[in-house]
Amino acid sequence: MAALLAENPMIVISGAKIAREIGVSRSTVWRWVTQLRALGVRVKGHPRSGYQIERVADVLVPKLLRARLHGCGLGKRVFHFFKTDSTNRVALELGHAGEPHGTIVLAEEQTAGRGRAGRSWHSEKSSGIYLTVLLRPAISPADAPLVTLLAGLAAREAIAEQVGIECDVRWPNDLLIQGKKVCGILTEMYAEPDQVKFVIVGIGVNVNHTGFPKELEAIATSLRMVTGRQESRLELLVKLLRTLERHYNRFLAEGARPVVEEFSRVSSYARGKRVRIATSNETYVGTTAGLEANGLLRVEREDGGTSVVISGDVSEA
Ligand code: BTN
Repeated sequence: MAALLAENPMIVISGAKIAREIGVSRSTVWRWVTQLRALGVRVKGHPRSGYQIERVADVLVPKLLRARLHGCGLGKRVFHFFKTDSTNRVALELGHAGEPHGTIVLAEEQTAGRGRAGRSWHSEKSSGIYLTVLLRPAISPADAPLVTLLAGLAAREAIAEQVGIECDVRWPNDLLIQGKKVCGILTEMYAEPDQVKFVIVGIGVNVNHTGFPKELEAIATSLRMVTGRQESRLELLVKLLRTLERHYNRFLAEGARPVVEEFSRVSSYARGKRVRIATSNETYVGTTAGLEANGLLRVEREDGGTSVVISGDVSEA
């Protein structure tokens, strides 16, 4: 019903017409209007005069999203939550339950958003995009890091298209503006030794946040904090899904090379950056020396020798 009103913002639609279109009773329509108002959607009018939407709350309504995703293989099935613990957790469950390639999970708010290395992801209500995409690529687990890289490149392209800002990429896929993080990606995979069963790509974009908790102030930013403008999350989400599909299909068709080449071109972290690497069993300082063909990061260590980072935290040293 929110979609029906939002698609006809200039029109007063009678309760009876809404009821007929959706196939529910007029009293159900009234109950839904009350619920929408409680969610912050400003709906003018009453049962006799008809209803008109006054201000569309920025909610990622699946019906509006699907209408914008014609021809896109991602987002054919959408699970949308006003509040959930983690869209990655939900998508993992859906992956095991056999949901098809391209299914997406969205939340307006996450109560236990997951970040890399066991950290949490700050998921303020309706300020960001909290999205997980379920992919079923027929690839070997050794190639999965490339999916992680291409997701970052896709998000970078979507942000550039929407706001005209070219983010830096910190290996493997943190997007940074002026050194602060605006987008983080957590890829998780379920695989057998020689074949990936599914990959879930969790993407968090800080879109309309106007500030962050003290402990994040120095390291996080949002698109709005950079541009001073409120951005449409729906538009950005559509771009994100389309660019992700394009990068994913290019990877399936052409392999690792274009992913690695593009990453090396746009990331200041790919080569010649002095970094601190923290893995689960050691921390060291070195200078980045390009990517391996499979997307892993080479680092020339200050304590001698070269390491290839498979997974670990990378920060500027
Ligand atoms: C990171 O940079 O540490 C990765 C952050 C990933 C956050 C996103 S928000 C949507 C999805 N659901 C989660 O629980 N995490 C990812």
